[in-house]
Amino acid sequence: MKRRLFLASLALFLLLPACTADSAPADEAPTAIVSSTESSPAITVYKSPTCGCCSLWVEHLEANDFTVQVVEMDNVNSVKEYYRIPSELMACHTGIVDGYVIEGHVPADDIKRLLEERPEAIGLSVPGMPIGSPGMEVEGRPADNYDVMLITEGGSSVFASH
Ligand code: CU
Ligand code: CU
Repeated sequence: MKRRLFLASLALFLLLPACTADSAPADEAPTAIVSSTESSPAITVYKSPTCGCCSLWVEHLEANDFTVQVVEMDNVNSVKEYYRIPSELMACHTGIVDGYVIEGHVPADDIKRLLEERPEAIGLSVPGMPIGSPGMEVEGRPADNYDVMLITEGGSSVFASH
């Protein structure tokens, strides 16, 4: 009986489309396997295998001395829900660095500042994939202005403006 239930929920999980806001909760904690050093912070990035802008953001992090472990998954929303990212702050990929959540196209320098200042927070988010944010550069198009949001328990505030 228990096994049947498990198989049924597994089937449901697999049937869910990859890019919708509603999805099955994660049963297990996605954990970061890599470890950090001060000069080369280790970040685990959960992304869909088909997300091109996510891969460009990973390259941006690597160019800024991050050690990146990429975990490809069809249902990245389960990670976002597990880490309690409010739906209005969700973006494409989710990174985990030193216990902080990094959601969307957050610049590497802002992540480094977060790791230095270590505020009591869930993490950072750049919602909405603005043009000109790292990994979202479009040739011939000027960068959008955008805010990096600090996600806190029950709220958020502006962490940096670009
Ligand atoms: Cu993106
Ligand atoms: Cu992405």
